[in-house]
Amino acid sequence: MGTALRIWVGADHGGVELKAALVKKLEEFGHTVTDIGADGSHSVDYPDYAHPVATAVADGRADRGLLICGSGQGMAMAACKVPGVRAACVSDPVSARLVAEHNDARVLCLGARIVGVELALGCLTAWLDASFEGGRHSRRVAKIEALAPQDG
Ligand code: RB5
Repeated sequence: MGTALRIWVGADHGGVELKAALVKKLEEFGHTVTDIGADGSHSVDYPDYAHPVATAVADGRADRGLLICGSGQGMAMAACKVPGVRAACVSDPVSARLVAEHNDARVLCLGARIVGVELALGCLTAWLDASFEGGRHSRRVAKIEALAPQDG
């Protein structure tokens, strides 16, 4: 394992079981995990979990964020609303590696209805093991960050 990271993790009701499995692995890897819920099977709203995790990444309390819902998509949409946060929803390890290397995505979103535990873990480790490559990718990421909400 590389550097121990501060990783905030959140899920809606659809992602609770996968979250538990991945939190266990992250802790085994030596990372410091802040699990903000949800727990249990009661229905909750994914933006309520995406926002605090993305905000912790944006303000530096977390190095990385992991968000899980049914598809992973709603979590990504909500997390990307937090300025400075690039969240990516993936379901394969190559994409997981590339969003770290090329897009400096510090928030990973997974769909518990899309990936099983083993594939989710493969995505998670590929993402954690990868580093932002900088260079030409820095220029492109800066252009993402320069986009204002009103830009057409
Ligand atoms: C919850 O029913 C579901 O909409 C949510 O888990 C997720 O798939 C949304 O993107």
